[in-house]
Amino acid sequence: MKVFVGQPLVEPSTQDLLAGHVVVTGAGSLPRTERPLLANADALLPTPRERITAEVLAAAPRVRIVASHSVGVDHVDLAACRARGVLVTNTPDVLTDATADLAFALILAVSRRLHEGEALARSGTWDGWKPQELLGVSLAGKTLGIYGMGRIGKAVAKRGEAFGMDVMGFDREGTEEEFRGFLSKVDVLSVHAPLTEATRGRFGAAELALLPRGAILVNTARGPIVDEKALAAALHSKHLFGAGLDVFQREPEIEAALLGLPNVVLLPHLGSATAEARLAMARLACTEIVRFFAGEPPLNPVG
Ligand code: DGY
Repeated sequence: MKVFVGQPLVEPSTQDLLAGHVVVTGAGSLPRTERPLLANADALLPTPRERITAEVLAAAPRVRIVASHSVGVDHVDLAACRARGVLVTNTPDVLTDATADLAFALILAVSRRLHEGEALARSGTWDGWKPQELLGVSLAGKTLGIYGMGRIGKAVAKRGEAFGMDVMGFDREGTEEEFRGFLSKVDVLSVHAPLTEATRGRFGAAELALLPRGAILVNTARGPIVDEKALAAALHSKHLFGAGLDVFQREPEIEAALLGLPNVVLLPHLGSATAEARLAMARLACTEIVRFFAGEPPLNPVG
């Protein structure tokens, strides 16, 4: 079988698990110039960077499985796959701890102003310890609000409890009134919902205004859930103490208004980026393809 892999993965994954197949690896993003490579592919293994649209599927008429190297599948047109009878799988669980660690790293970085401190330490202008220098926010006793209590949300909740925080979870089934009540109580909001039509733009100016003054927002889920212009305004006015973002509305582009702000920490979508997690994701996606062509049921079917 021929497998098209969106971009080079952490090995050993394709090299051993897909050894019996023809593997063709793209350079990332799946530009139009790579489309001819799909013509006789039987399986696609995209990362979140390769959008599997109806048009891409049309260029890949033999494809029967899309094994995504990600837990989020908003880059895959699930309806188009369903209509074509194409199986979609993802890679949950193996990245839960890595992503929860990164979310908490952002919470700590923002609350303790790590990037400002680091810049000062390197600047050559630091002239010694000062009682009022770069004061942050203590986490113990504060309320950690988790939007989306799935696997990663729950893992972040555990970390919050270990830091002495009170944890409040909000699941997407809650009513608007419950949502507003939730927002008004959280000191640190961590976003962990998938990107769907219901969560797109969920945190706009009105919702950010409901957060208590001095709150922190961290997003390691998907960028379009938070309106970046509204967030930049809330950070600029100091309504929010700070924010930590690992994902962006128009990745890899980052809203210009955020780039100049001192109270936001920006990372290039590193949530699952540990050697262990990325290897496990790669191997799991390859395993789904091997199982599919061996006639075995999928481990993680989506939709
Ligand atoms: C995912 O898996 O959905 C992440 O965003 C990439 O690690």
